Amino acid sequence: MFGRGGAAARMRGRNDGGAQKRRVLVTVCALVVMFSAISLYHGSFFGNRTNKSVVEETFDPTASGWAANLAAGIRGESGRGREVVGADVKAVKDEVEEEVEEKEEVAGEKDAFAEKLEGNDDESGADERTSEDGAPKSFPVCDAQYTENIPCLDLAMNKKLKLKLNHSVMEHYERHCPPSDHRLNCLIPPPPNYKVAIRWPKSRDEVWQSNVPHTFLATEKSDQHWMVVNGQKVNFPGGGTHFPNGADKYISNVAKMLKDPEGNLSMGGKIRTVLDVGCGVASFGAYLLPLDIIAMSLAPNDVHQNQIQFALERGIPATLGVLGTKRQPFPSKSFDLAHCSRCRIEWHQRDGILLLEVDRLLRPGGYFVWSAPPAYREDPEDQQIWKEMTALVTSMCWTVAAHQDQTVIWQKPLTNDCYEQRPEGQAPPLCKATDPDSAWNVPMEACITPLTDEVRTVEPWPKRLLAPSPRLDELRIDDKKYLSDTSIWRRRVEFYWKTLKAANQVEQNSVRNIMDMNANYGGFAAALRDKDLPVWVMNVVPSAGPNTLGIVYDRGFIGSLHNWCEAFSTYPRTYDLLHAWSVFSDIEKENCSIEDLLLEMDRILRPMGIVIIRDKADMVDRVSKYLTALRWSSWHQVVEADKDGLSDGDEKILFARKELWQPEDVL
Ligand SMILES: *[C@@H]1O[C@H](CO)[C@@H](O)[C@H](O)[C@H]1NC(C)=O
Ligand SMILES: *[C@@H]1O[C@H](CO)[C@@H](O)[C@H](O)[C@H]1NC(C)=O
Ligand SMILES: *[C@@H]1O[C@H](CO)[C@@H](O)[C@H](O)[C@H]1NC(C)=O
Repeated sequence: MFGRGGAAARMRGRNDGGAQKRRVLVTVCALVVMFSAISLYHGSFFGNRTNKSVVEETFDPTASGWAANLAAGIRGESGRGREVVGADVKAVKDEVEEEVEEKEEVAGEKDAFAEKLEGNDDESGADERTSEDGAPKSFPVCDAQYTENIPCLDLAMNKKLKLKLNHSVMEHYERHCPPSDHRLNCLIPPPPNYKVAIRWPKSRDEVWQSNVPHTFLATEKSDQHWMVVNGQKVNFPGGGTHFPNGADKYISNVAKMLKDPEGNLSMGGKIRTVLDVGCGVASFGAYLLPLDIIAMSLAPNDVHQNQIQFALERGIPATLGVLGTKRQPFPSKSFDLAHCSRCRIEWHQRDGILLLEVDRLLRPGGYFVWSAPPAYREDPEDQQIWKEMTALVTSMCWTVAAHQDQTVIWQKPLTNDCYEQRPEGQAPPLCKATDPDSAWNVPMEACITPLTDEVRTVEPWPKRLLAPSPRLDELRIDDKKYLSDTSIWRRRVEFYWKTLKAANQVEQNSVRNIMDMNANYGGFAAALRDKDLPVWVMNVVPSAGPNTLGIVYDRGFIGSLHNWCEAFSTYPRTYDLLHAWSVFSDIEKENCSIEDLLLEMDRILRPMGIVIIRDKADMVDRVSKYLTALRWSSWHQVVEADKDGLSDGDEKILFARKELWQPEDVL
């Protein structure tokens, strides 16, 4: 059941069949489409601008240089229970092997698709598509099979490049970006009948089926109430494998275990940032929102893929990720609480490397909530797991904060004292060389990230929103600079909002999922919070710049490190608003193409979504020439930015709004 995302286009036409029949067809279709996807994955997504050909015939598998570090054992959430876990891993491997065979069988497909794409290319012709100033007049539309394309998390691409990835450590679910000559250079079309997303807060409980046309989980998880198909909509009753009676009751039970008198997991603002690993459709995260808790819900693009796509379609913060061999793209000490219910991760394996990564991400005194049968069951296998898990967490100096039935809550220490008192040679060792906050393409290590000597806890939420973060010192940023940043962004965001309102470009709750592509200290998100809008912000800190993401987390927001020369780990059409401050200038300094970045922004932007690009005036002028080609011409406006403490007055701001289009409109 791999790669169903890539197979969306084909599946859709056949979804009206019976349930069993559908399963078989889906598998076959997935394999067929996956092969086509592989054979078609050419052209330049981020690369060579002069190569207008979308298809080319050769590639060099050695051109890519990843696929080295191995390690692990996440298995994605499943309701089928732990008993079948081992079998699952094997099944997954078998499927992958089958895939390869199938692909060879359907080799004929490749040429048909290649010709089709080449045909398109010939018709439009590179010369006609490019205007005199070098900006294209139009971009081709990608084939329908790419409606859910995620360039760096594409199993078909891994195959195409013949990457040797260790499945037992989930390496195939980690990021592997296509080399420049294998990038698409076209606009990702929405699926047929795509509709403007249902608005928050209604979207928490229902989404359009046509927007995320995967009802597999509804049948697969029918007994667990993850989701229910209801006419043109898919409903989310709030269930999960571990909480068939609803996430809200489960959450309040966790809070009671931690002795919050009101059963409010926020615990007076002590808990604000949460990491949910193996999050299903993110109902846990959804039901934390009323408690003013924000969760980063994480799941791989796996057998239960599209979980993250559903989460984002619902307006719940989420991102694609897997605990495999590399650190999560988050700094150390970011989360007040981490959660894993039936997430089927074998934490005690591989010297505890995965749990040690969670430990890195937890704040001093942070909690890890683990809900799984070994926490209570009596059978020998579960008891063995429980024993090993207990030994591991004890060696990591975690203590039991509460234990009830299937749920155990451990707490990370506040200081290094316990680590220092461990017997000589006790595993896991303390980490030595690596910067604990460095997390972009950094391999995980089975070691404990030591804490700083001084205990510096963050203020309770919402006080921490504006209070200078304890990490400012570490980064040698003075409080004044931080506070002035906050007030500059307050003014800037005020202006953005006024402009959008004046142009009638924001409707009631039409903006929910926001990405700040260069978040710095999180001032943009903080200003939005002030406005009391029903939005959440994915704060991205570019991997090439100073690593300020810890400050963003310290003030109670979530975000990710990222390199904007590559595609982001999310599905197409997942953000309502993208804010790019200085991102274009910055990536050009790294010799990456602004055209590729524009196509990536278009991929992740929802139809009718808004972009705000703030950059050097000449950069904004260059970017503006692409609006028609990108079909971002629903509305646009360019204004000169006022001089302020972050800008010397040579900046412009481009506002633009993406159209809602279908491939047939573009011909
Ligand atoms: C995959 O990783 C595991 C765990 O590190 C290791 O034992 C195994 O040998 C690796 N397999 C391959 C094919 O490299
Ligand atoms: C829980 O507590 C937080 C702040 O600590 C508050 O904002 C929220 O409204 C509370 N939620 C409920 C349901 O009481
Ligand atoms: C970008 O290209 C220029 C000219 O080829 C080179 O001098 C520079 O070092 C490159 N910069 C980066 C970050 O690769």
